[in-house]
Amino acid sequence: MTKRTRFRAELLGFCFLFLLVRETIAAGEANKDKPVSTGELCGGQFCNADLGEVCIAGTVCGCVNGEKRASLKDHCQPVEPVNFPLWVIRKNHNQLIYNDTFANPQDTINKQYVDDFNNGIADCYPHTSLKNGFVTSDVIDITNPMLVNSTWDKGVIFNATMYFRNDTIRSPQEAYQVLVDYIMHRNNYEIGHSGLFLNPYQPDPFSSCYENTCHPAGRCIEMGPNTYRCECGAGYRDKNPTDPGRTCIRLFGYNECERDEDNICSKNAQCIDLPLLYRCKCNNGYKDASPKYELPGSVCVLDYCSDLNFCPANTTCVNGEFQAECVCLPGMVDIRKSNMKAYLGIDQSALCLSVIDVNECVLGLTNCSSAAICEEFKIGYRCSCAEGWIDGNPAEPGRICALPICMECNQHGQCIYKSQSNMTCVCEEGYAGEHCEIAPSNVPLILMLLLALLFLLLMLW
Ligand SMILES: *[C@@H]1O[C@H](CO)[C@@H](O)[C@H](O)[C@H]1NC(C)=O
Ligand SMILES: *[C@@H]1O[C@H](CO)[C@@H](O)[C@H](O)[C@H]1NC(C)=O
Ligand SMILES: *[C@@H]1O[C@H](CO)[C@@H](O)[C@H](O)[C@H]1NC(C)=O
Ligand SMILES: *[C@@H]1O[C@H](CO)[C@@H](O)[C@H](O)[C@H]1NC(C)=O
Ligand SMILES: *[C@@H]1O[C@H](CO)[C@@H](O)[C@H](O)[C@H]1NC(C)=O
Ligand SMILES: *[C@@H]1O[C@H](CO)[C@@H](O)[C@H](O)[C@H]1NC(C)=O
Ligand SMILES: *[C@@H]1O[C@H](CO)[C@@H](O)[C@H](O)[C@H]1NC(C)=O
Repeated sequence: MTKRTRFRAELLGFCFLFLLVRETIAAGEANKDKPVSTGELCGGQFCNADLGEVCIAGTVCGCVNGEKRASLKDHCQPVEPVNFPLWVIRKNHNQLIYNDTFANPQDTINKQYVDDFNNGIADCYPHTSLKNGFVTSDVIDITNPMLVNSTWDKGVIFNATMYFRNDTIRSPQEAYQVLVDYIMHRNNYEIGHSGLFLNPYQPDPFSSCYENTCHPAGRCIEMGPNTYRCECGAGYRDKNPTDPGRTCIRLFGYNECERDEDNICSKNAQCIDLPLLYRCKCNNGYKDASPKYELPGSVCVLDYCSDLNFCPANTTCVNGEFQAECVCLPGMVDIRKSNMKAYLGIDQSALCLSVIDVNECVLGLTNCSSAAICEEFKIGYRCSCAEGWIDGNPAEPGRICALPICMECNQHGQCIYKSQSNMTCVCEEGYAGEHCEIAPSNVPLILMLLLALLFLLLMLW
């Protein structure tokens, strides 16, 4: 066969097919009840192309992807799916409790439940505003309500897809609400005539709080699409306030002392349960050393200060985590750091003296710049930079004094005198070194030029 004759044959075949199709459509219209097999051969039968059937996996006739029908007699039609769960609490008079049967889609009892559910749904929508939209439903799976909220220990959740003719529903929420309203308010909680009864409480499956991770005793608060936050309910408090509503413990009647993780008492303290919360009491020989806003008794340290003679006159004892410290009483100046005590004839054993008896300037107990003028007052002292000096921080005078250009920095930098430290140089642009002794130089460049010259000479040699 040449290409041309083959094309003719194909054209002829196409015309024939066209005529056949027209014929069958006419026949179908003339006699609708009589099924006409015009589709492909499929697992020993012909699919009905009039109903939109196609052969699926070479074995069964069904609708193409994206189309559905209510029964095998019906036309396939384009549909949109809507997915939602329904919480079923009983079958006739028997309370349902989730068990393995509901997890196994091959189980005959399971299949019966699925059929009952689908038939029930098909009974419902015709009584609602979506009667012209609903096509059919599929059960995806039957799940345990406890997986959604651990307090939901009864009934089972049918997770199903409802199919609606294209452009017949406004939103998935509408498809859900219309159905649940009908079942609850007009059909006495029964799904059609299936004997399956809805739980009077149905969680809103479109809420971001559906399937939340809040604590069972917590509350979920919707914050917007797909976002929510948790908080502990009344009578409960957060065990971990940085992750609110995830672990809630009872405020009243809960013994926080029973388990270490429920209280923050120090291990050197005794936990005392109270009707409301608890308190901690440091053990004998230990003292409370908890930070200011923490629960007293949350840090307990050995009481080093219990030794009455631990600290000398003019001081008081303060417990630290590993040892105690003697600190000056208010109005006293710590003179331990001064190395001028002997020079001034002060008793070597003295730790603290009254501020009135102390000359901080002479004892060197100030934080004036080493280049500043220190002025002694009856209480305290004053620092100021000498004339001709710049004050680096006038808000607190005399702590940082600087000379713009100075000998110590080789006339190429600022000499800066801070409190209790020696002079440092801040060099001008290009200069470096501790005393700005390194001048900006072209050394590397000159070196390179010399090398290049040497190289050239060698080449010419
Ligand atoms: C029907 O709706 C589905 C889902 O929105 C879409 O994928 C499909 O293309 C639509 N079909 C028609 C014929 O409009
Ligand atoms: C599970 O529960 C159903 C309904 O109550 C019951 O018919 C079935 O026998 C139970 N299956 C098992 C394995 O207990
Ligand atoms: C229902 O099934 C869909 C598809 O498998 C899944 O995404 C969804 O989480 C299920 N919902 C429930 C409540 O089990
Ligand atoms: C779990 O369900 C109960 C009862 O319906 C409800 O009060 C509670 O808020 C739910 N818990 C969470 C974390 O959503
Ligand atoms: C305590 O302070 C007073 C007042 O400055 C002083 O006279 C006394 O010597 C101090 N005692 C000791 C032991 O440092
Ligand atoms: C200097 O000492 C005073 C009093 O002891 C203190 O308030 C101030 O913060 C100190 N300033 C500096 C810069 O260390
Ligand atoms: C500060 O300078 C003095 C005298 O110039 C010197 O003895 C001392 O070691 C220097 N201290 C520091 C911390 O550089």
